Amino acid sequence: MAKLDPIAEFREDHRKVRDALLELASAALAGDLIKARGILGQIDTAVGPHFRYEEETLYPAMREFLGDYVDSLIGEHDGAIDTAKTAARVLSQSSLSKEEGQVVAKAARELLVHVSNCDGLNILAERFSPEKLDELGERFAQSRAKGVPLLRWADTIRKR
Ligand SMILES: [Fe+2]
Repeated sequence: MAKLDPIAEFREDHRKVRDALLELASAALAGDLIKARGILGQIDTAVGPHFRYEEETLYPAMREFLGDYVDSLIGEHDGAIDTAKTAARVLSQSSLSKEEGQVVAKAARELLVHVSNCDGLNILAERFSPEKLDELGERFAQSRAKGVPLLRWADTIRKR
């Protein structure tokens, strides 16, 4: 499998998801259920391989720098998954009230903070050896090739 640059692609994922979350918040506040549902679907697809790469490969490697703090990163993922589930539940309904639109927008903003925090790990990843970065790039590509969406991964493969 072709290797990818794990630092550049990590950031690229965050950019895509950042933009999608901002759009999701706007669509939800505008009461556009169909658009919001579509965007959440895109986020689910994009974020699944990313979270999976983080938990299966990047976070274990980060123990080199962060030690046990890595456990709280996994805990943050629990929160992000719950937040995504809340948004998915609200958007699976046949209509969207103003209050529900606000719930989804709040969820999108919480996830946005997670994206912003997560991007900070790149400053640490720059300290990995070239060999380690090669390995990370290979694993990241594998996770993308498997392509399991976030909520399906969380309910089936992820063991928590
Ligand atoms: Fe991330």
